[in-house]
Amino acid sequence: MSTPNLETIVSLCKRRGFIYQGSEVYGGLSGTWDYGPLGVTLKRNIMNLWWKMFVEDREDMYGVDAAILMNQKVWQASGHVDTFTDPLVECSNCHGRFREDKIDISKCPTCGTKNPFSTARQFNMMFKTNVGPVDDENSISYLRPETAQGIFTNFKNVVDSFYPDLPFGIGQQGKAFRNEISPRDFVFRSREFEQMEIEYFVDPEKWEEAFEAWRKQVWAWCEALGLAKESVHELEVPEADRAHYSKRTIDFEYDFPHGRDELLGMAYRTDFDLSNIQNASGKSMEYTVKGTNTKFVPHVIEPSFGVERALMAVLVSAYTEDEVNGEKRTYLKLPEHLAPVRFAVSPLVKNKPELVEKAREVYKMLKEKHGNVMWDDNGNIGKRYRRQDEIGTPQCITIDFDTLEDDTVTVRDRDTTEQKRVAIADLR
Ligand code: GAP
Repeated sequence: MSTPNLETIVSLCKRRGFIYQGSEVYGGLSGTWDYGPLGVTLKRNIMNLWWKMFVEDREDMYGVDAAILMNQKVWQASGHVDTFTDPLVECSNCHGRFREDKIDISKCPTCGTKNPFSTARQFNMMFKTNVGPVDDENSISYLRPETAQGIFTNFKNVVDSFYPDLPFGIGQQGKAFRNEISPRDFVFRSREFEQMEIEYFVDPEKWEEAFEAWRKQVWAWCEALGLAKESVHELEVPEADRAHYSKRTIDFEYDFPHGRDELLGMAYRTDFDLSNIQNASGKSMEYTVKGTNTKFVPHVIEPSFGVERALMAVLVSAYTEDEVNGEKRTYLKLPEHLAPVRFAVSPLVKNKPELVEKAREVYKMLKEKHGNVMWDDNGNIGKRYRRQDEIGTPQCITIDFDTLEDDTVTVRDRDTTEQKRVAIADLR
């Protein structure tokens, strides 16, 4: 199946309650998106899967949830105040502003004027704010542009509380903010988004083996999202394109509707961050190897995942069109563990109280067990199936007159459209 175009995905997301434009009722706010009832569940399923796979299921990982607002010294020491910039150019005719490296600078993309741009200036992408009632230099803070710094600043706290063996890692999920010059491609590049980041602390001599181990874990993650192997590509990022802190980066790219682009990144950040914190705060970030006098500032491998890009890749890879009984059908072939609705339960018709009562019983039973179960008695059964297909519900359960006799129901499979009779007691 070829990659669906972006408009198809955007329109399905809006129509079916996955994702809406942020502040839409007031004309929107560029680069912001709101998650509807199905979108928020899909997003949480992705985030929970990540947390389970990379924090809960591992002995060498610790979770944190740091504040979004941090002392401005964090961003001075990390280099973000000086270098977290993109090249900004302005059209001399229409005054449109663009990211220089994302356009053909011989022509303005908005008004078409030829050669309208002067030299680029570096535009810092951090959102600046003030903390407290006094608006001066000392109260400056920033909405964090990466969750990583909340991990680095808690490195010593976690070591002191848990004294873990090296290597070990700290994971965090949460919002990040970047004042992108040109937000684009739906949720792919937004101004407010979520990250899931790991800082994995290692002996400096052993960074390469940890890098290789995490590389395999990233592939396992892509598989757990249901992404086809051939749609994910590794890109060894050349030195000139790497972030200021990285000695090696591999971008994992995905075939998005707008083209092959970064899904997530994996960087070898050396001791850049911990050493900067040590120098700027005057507090030691050294780790003492247990039972020895050997001390060093650990080096770091950083797998950094974007939630929205994972969600977009999941939707794109799940989107499927086929034909059933001569009619075109659209469905989301979502992995069961990610589907926002696990089962939809319906009475065959809604004007027979005995059917509705029995269907309510089955619904309640499954809802208690799975949580994400939908009651759906709108329209005829064919329409219900189509609607549930479009939101990726793996199975629809229908209660009919036979159910009242033998306690079996019809289970209809999303992918094959096959229907089977199953005993209520056997529903899982
Ligand atoms: N701590 C490292 C770091 O932040 P990054 O490559 O700038 O590295 C990591 O960001 C991931 O965060 C990206 O691979 C992407 O998935 C996501 N991301 C970055 N900027 C984004 C944006 N403007 N909108 C949506 N996701 C973004």
